[in-house]
Amino acid sequence: SAYLENHLSWTVQIKRWVSYRMTFAYLNKMKSYRYPVTRLYSTSQTTVDSNEVKTFRTLAHRWWDEQGTYAPLHSMNDLRVPFIRDNLLKTVTDHQPGKPLSGMKILDVGCGGGLLTEPLGRLGASVIGIDPVDENIKTAQHHKSFDPVLAKRIEYRACSLEEIVEETIETFDAIVASEVVEHVLDLETFIQCCCRVLKPGGSLFITTINKTQLSYALGIVFAEQIAGLVPKGTHTWEKFVSPEKLESILESNGLSVLTVAGMLYNPFSGYWHWSENTSLNYAAHAAKSKAEEPPAPTEFFLNRETERLQANDSANPGAHEELKK
Ligand SMILES: C[S@@+](CC[C@H](N)C(=O)[O-])C[C@H]1O[C@@H](n2cnc3c(N)ncnc32)[C@H](O)[C@@H]1O
Repeated sequence: SAYLENHLSWTVQIKRWVSYRMTFAYLNKMKSYRYPVTRLYSTSQTTVDSNEVKTFRTLAHRWWDEQGTYAPLHSMNDLRVPFIRDNLLKTVTDHQPGKPLSGMKILDVGCGGGLLTEPLGRLGASVIGIDPVDENIKTAQHHKSFDPVLAKRIEYRACSLEEIVEETIETFDAIVASEVVEHVLDLETFIQCCCRVLKPGGSLFITTINKTQLSYALGIVFAEQIAGLVPKGTHTWEKFVSPEKLESILESNGLSVLTVAGMLYNPFSGYWHWSENTSLNYAAHAAKSKAEEPPAPTEFFLNRETERLQANDSANPGAHEELKK
């Protein structure tokens, strides 16, 4: 009877285990049915560096203090907003006065508190601002609510660029990544993702910091450690990128670099100006190649005829002569 009792208890345990397994399998299946999202593209690489997230989280309430930590980004709008607007206007034949970017879809990657997203929305564009730092997006949402004009033009999302790439393809007329690429983990993946969500012929705008001895001395030693213009640890020199390196990554992803322009910041006046010198900060504009044009009808028929003659070649020796004509 002891044997029987033991045997029965084992059978009950095994049955329980099998039923747990089945329940889990069923729940897992349900979970996959709950989200019928089609993944268009998936990358195992993340571009988000958790240390950067920590740094930006602690500063999330300071975005809109024009005299504070982000003062240089506020005044950078004097250069970058017209740079983006004027280059985008070159791609259209006419535009609405007062709303020149109306009809354009822009993705502002690493939008922070929305310092650049808002002026782009005011120019009439539909802008999606994304940032991996939740607190930044909350600040951006809150600030947007002060201007009713922006309600329908700007959408903010706390997510990474990789997540956008999983949902959509060739959607945006322009992508803006201003002062962001020097914070990402894997620049090549970041650019690849930008390229995927950009429409053929679309524009990518990047502003960033060059990787030079001068950028180490001024951008890190002076700005962070001596003058306290930027909080310590904001930048890592190893992540800075030269215009040449950036250009080679862009070109290898099917983007042509149209402009690279130096930007210099005067810490005494608090203003930026354009410069030929790109050894510190610079802006780049690149365009994704347009979709291949279908061959012209005559060219198409000639190619078809050549293919037909080549196919007949072995069966019909005279085809060689016909091809030569
Ligand atoms: C210096 S701020 C620039 C903010 C904004 N673009 C501007 O110029 O006002 C850098 C921003 O990039 C975001 N960021 C960091 N890593 C990122 C990544 N891998 N992808 C997208 N954004 C990132 C940060 O959270 C931060 O908001």
